[in-house]
Amino acid sequence: MSAEEYFNLYKKCVDIESIQFSLEDFKRFQRSKNIKIEKEQNAIAILGLTDREVEIYFIGVAESFRGRGLGKKLLKSIISFSKYYAADFIILEVGINNIPAKNMYLSLNFIEYGFRKNYYRNISGIREDAIIMKLNLKT
Ligand SMILES: CC(C)(COP(=O)(O)OP(=O)(O)OC[C@H]1O[C@@H](n2cnc3c(N)ncnc32)[C@H](O)[C@@H]1OP(=O)(O)O)[C@@H](O)C(=O)NCCC(=O)NCCS
Repeated sequence: MSAEEYFNLYKKCVDIESIQFSLEDFKRFQRSKNIKIEKEQNAIAILGLTDREVEIYFIGVAESFRGRGLGKKLLKSIISFSKYYAADFIILEVGINNIPAKNMYLSLNFIEYGFRKNYYRNISGIREDAIIMKLNLKT
């Protein structure tokens, strides 16, 4: 898939006030050895790969397809990939008020691991605290 196609899928799956990546970012992601894009129809995730660690930078499902198990399916394939990659853990940040995402991570045994005050700033300038969540793969 081209960077343009990934970017168009991302735009369908992200809530407009939370958009953080541009087409240029997707072009950069495709050149980077340390970024992996996982996709399903109507769902996309962007992963950062470092030594023994996978970070979920974004996971989203197109709005009209939410609540049907697609997010959880994609997260399960991220977990399988991370085990194959021999990562020790998966880590991510999620907005404290993002209940659907938080529940999705909890339903696959992620734990709340830390807290970041005023971490996110949306396009209206409103700040939101974030929770760091982690899934240990080696315990
Ligand atoms: C978070 C998101 C990816 C979930 O995807 P989804 O396909 O709607 O979720 P699923 O249908 O697979 O549900 C997975 C779990 O999430 C939880 N969940 C989903 N929608 C929920 C809602 N509206 N309220 C509460 N919990 C919800 C449930 O615990 C569910 O588990 P269960 O089916 O075992 O009960 C989706 O809401 C989304 O794209 N949000 C916008 C982008 C975003 O905020 N991404 C996360 C930030 S990195």
